[in-house]
Amino acid sequence: MKGLILSGGKGSRLYPLTYTRAKQLVPVANKPVLFRVIETLRDAGITEIGIVIGHTGPEIREAVGQGAQFGVQITYIEQNAPLGLAHAVKVAREFLDDERFVMFLGDNVIEGGIGKLIADFERERYNAQVVLTPVEEPQHYGVAELSDGPERRIVRLIEKPRNPPSNLALVGIYMFDANIHKAVEAIKPSWRGELEITDAIQWLVENKYEVHPYVHRGWWIDTGKPIDMLAANAKVLEELQPKIEGYVDRDSVVDERVTVQEDAEIINSVVRGPAIIGRNTRLINAYVGPFTSIDHHCVIENSEIEHSIVLEHSSIVDIPHRIADSLIGRNVEITRSDFRPKALKMTLGDNSKVGVL
Ligand code: G1P
Repeated sequence: MKGLILSGGKGSRLYPLTYTRAKQLVPVANKPVLFRVIETLRDAGITEIGIVIGHTGPEIREAVGQGAQFGVQITYIEQNAPLGLAHAVKVAREFLDDERFVMFLGDNVIEGGIGKLIADFERERYNAQVVLTPVEEPQHYGVAELSDGPERRIVRLIEKPRNPPSNLALVGIYMFDANIHKAVEAIKPSWRGELEITDAIQWLVENKYEVHPYVHRGWWIDTGKPIDMLAANAKVLEELQPKIEGYVDRDSVVDERVTVQEDAEIINSVVRGPAIIGRNTRLINAYVGPFTSIDHHCVIENSEIEHSIVLEHSSIVDIPHRIADSLIGRNVEITRSDFRPKALKMTLGDNSKVGVL
């Protein structure tokens, strides 16, 4: 079985972080979401992986390479415009050949991997399998209507319905055999101008192919928005096996559920888990609270932060109020300035958001 990861898109809901970085490379617990997706496929035994890339392709190629660091083989497939998930399958036709494959959206994080799903799909020889999960706002997703009774079948799939027939959303994980290529050729673009995978699967259902619904009960997060990034970060941190590789001085208090990566230094500070402190990062007289990831080469000094993500090479120094629920990019400096005029002085990128006390 092959793997197909979709890693295009603008990531506009994560601006300003994604002006300068592909959304799939924004880290969760100090590791890009895309790396987690590749590892999920590899752990399910899939080593031949195609990654569909768009305008952020060069950056993704540079970060992932040929896949040796993950023990997989990567083929890059260019999609010139974001014309939909079914369009991505179309452009990947040659790579996929007639093999069965799993398609995974490169910005999704799912609890517990997909080993069982892949095994079920291989054993049962379904034509397709879709992963569904109950959500609170189904109108933002592809939604499935299932039949009643013990043998629940898919009656209908609709993309972003105004009146959702159920609360079961399509998680961005799909498994197909070669019949999907007929479906993709048969469908027309939707109102948003995209070839929807949801429509292609609906075509399979209508043409009597066996599409199996798998209802996922653990957590699943589509890391599209800042709040989702923080939620995904919290979930992944909870699953992390803590490890102390850096230096913690005797005056510091570091919780059991804290990972301190290589060459990090924790001086006279308190870290409450789950949290991760990245390589070469220094905490000095700082408090880092639960559900926080500080990436590599950062400095947190005389400041407090919790439930946040800080990307590499950023510093937070002498801030009198605790920072919370924040997503802080690369090379950001947050400091106190005592020079007149006494004022908040900011250089913020487009679409930045700041909440002051
Ligand atoms: C896509 C799919 C949708 C699915 C969602 C999951 O939506 O079209 O069916 O529920 O991913 O993340 P998009 O993120 O392109 O709006």
